Amino acid sequence: MKTYRIAPSILSADFARLGDEIRAVIDAGADFIHFDVMDNHYVPNLTIGPAVAQAIKPYCRRADGSAVVLDVHLMVEPVDALAQMFAQAGADIVSFHPEASRHVDRTLQLIRDAGAKAGLVFNPASSLEVLDHVLDKVDLVLIMSVNPGFGGQSFIPQALHKLALVRERLDAYRERSGREVLLEVDGGIKTDNIAQAAAAGADTFVAGSAIFGQRDYKAVIDAMRAQLAAVQA
Ligand code: DX5
Ligand code: ZN
Repeated sequence: MKTYRIAPSILSADFARLGDEIRAVIDAGADFIHFDVMDNHYVPNLTIGPAVAQAIKPYCRRADGSAVVLDVHLMVEPVDALAQMFAQAGADIVSFHPEASRHVDRTLQLIRDAGAKAGLVFNPASSLEVLDHVLDKVDLVLIMSVNPGFGGQSFIPQALHKLALVRERLDAYRERSGREVLLEVDGGIKTDNIAQAAAAGADTFVAGSAIFGQRDYKAVIDAMRAQLAAVQA
């Protein structure tokens, strides 16, 4: 049985009530909390920094005390200093866009040395080539199914093909190394397309507006899980 993870993006949450929103979405069944960092340089939008990550870290727990993964998606340039700050602030995973780093291998190593897992993010038009050279230092691959910068955009179907290409590489890598790398998809994921993304190979699903845009977060997450269960059947 495959493990699927749902990662609500707090970009679409009510920032004035962020702690409550995180609690609510965890009670509703979130596996990860996806945290979008935008710098008005790499992307044309400005969001939240390490101080906010540190403030919400204590909220990333279920009622039974178990930890929920704080999944930080950096859309910033340069990457290194902020990546380290987020790892220190409590990020469990720090992902970045390879185009935004001068030295991708070094940035991956810096993140791991700071105690977090490291992720690489590929935009709709980005080639996957770099992945082959650094896979040993990558814990998560994030395929963007929108251009980064905003919540609420439409899913770009070409991402399905890219997910399948990455799935092949990660399966082959697991065969030779025994190591599991997560495959996350981000942008325009809804109840009606999550199954397609899973069938293409994704195991971790970011959803912002689809979850926070509805009153009943649990109903959306349950509906997503029902779709995912049908993929496995
Ligand atoms: C976009 C962000 C996404 C965004 C997803 O740049 O990386 O995580 O919040 O939002 P939806 O699910 O609304 O497309
Ligand atoms: Zn994101």
